[in-house]
Amino acid sequence: MERKLGVGVIGAGRIGMLHAQNLSRHVPGCRVVAIADRRVACARAAASASGGGDAVADPNALLARDDIHAVVICSSTDTHTEIIRQAANAGKHIFCEKPIDHDLGRIRDALESVQRAGVLFQVGFNRRFDPDFKSLAVRVREGDVGEPHLLRISSRDPEPPPIDYIKVSGGLFMDMSIHDLDMAHFLVAEPIVEVFAAGSAHDPAIGGAGDVDTAVVVLRYASGALCTIDNSRRAVYGYDQRIEVFGSRGCLSVPNRTPTGVDHWDERGQHRERPQHFFMQRYRESYVAEMQAFVECVRLGREPAVSGQEGLHAVQLAHAARDSCAQNRPVRIATAAAHDDAA
Ligand SMILES: NC(=O)c1ccc[n+]([C@@H]2O[C@H](COP(=O)([O-])OP(=O)(O)OC[C@H]3O[C@@H](n4cnc5c(N)ncnc54)[C@H](O)[C@@H]3O)[C@@H](O)[C@H]2O)c1
Repeated sequence: MERKLGVGVIGAGRIGMLHAQNLSRHVPGCRVVAIADRRVACARAAASASGGGDAVADPNALLARDDIHAVVICSSTDTHTEIIRQAANAGKHIFCEKPIDHDLGRIRDALESVQRAGVLFQVGFNRRFDPDFKSLAVRVREGDVGEPHLLRISSRDPEPPPIDYIKVSGGLFMDMSIHDLDMAHFLVAEPIVEVFAAGSAHDPAIGGAGDVDTAVVVLRYASGALCTIDNSRRAVYGYDQRIEVFGSRGCLSVPNRTPTGVDHWDERGQHRERPQHFFMQRYRESYVAEMQAFVECVRLGREPAVSGQEGLHAVQLAHAARDSCAQNRPVRIATAAAHDDAA
């Protein structure tokens, strides 16, 4: 494709604003043509922050345009599958934020319309594009730790989101652990066969909303390798994002990133800065790289690596974790591709 790819952004809240800006500033070969948000003021703000595309309230107005070849869906999760269906029917290539939906049936239906329309589809697991985690995955695949035996993923937020968000989030496993479940799947090329999760609520408002704010998920791979994921909604020292892969020949680890690399040693001890504040800072490069990858795939007609099936798989694992926690039992996963025991 010689001319610039015309992109439409649907949903201009936190992540839509970021993607619109990244597309216009950091992704060559594309142009943000229009932005849709039912709060049209948000669409206008994102359009002016990303070089002045059109701002509309209705996504259908954007889907009807011939100068838009691909859409980036960043509206709230409950709107994704309907918009995917409409976009696919309009022949637009699709990037959709995670999770595709909370409901496995709706995800399958939406992915079928994508397949029928023959459009490309990428899901927003941005952490796969983080330079540290990407390099970790390559080195695990190249055998630097030998056969993986243990993975440890710590993923803790600096503070919980507003309680109104928690109530519609789908729960901690769907909203937060889902990134880590996808990372566990990404790092080890082995089917995950069992999920065992435990959770508790230390924040009474979160407990009152029927959710947990603290959780451990244990994943068992077909090879016998094990992964632990630990999540917290509140780490007083900041956004804690660490991964370790331990295997028969050694161990690889990715530590937290700090705003600068300067450590301070004095008579009281050794001091390091708090980690980078939250996901917008810590994963800044990954959000740019995932948009670059999406636009490149569409321009070259190449299937994106982070496919709809990968998006479906992560939701299946999140369901399994939620059920395991609620029933205090391990949940078997039938196969990597289809595990309805978990559904
Ligand atoms: N990959 C990540 O790291 C990451 C981070 C944050 C959010 N997300 C995901 O992105 C999505 C949006 O999250 P957010 O935090 O930006 O939410 P947000 O509430 O800040 O923004 C959502 C926007 O979508 C608009 N909207 C809702 N329904 C619409 C519709 N039918 N048509 C047009 N606009 C509509 C809303 O008016 C709002 O401005 C969610 O699915 C969330 O899970 C992913």
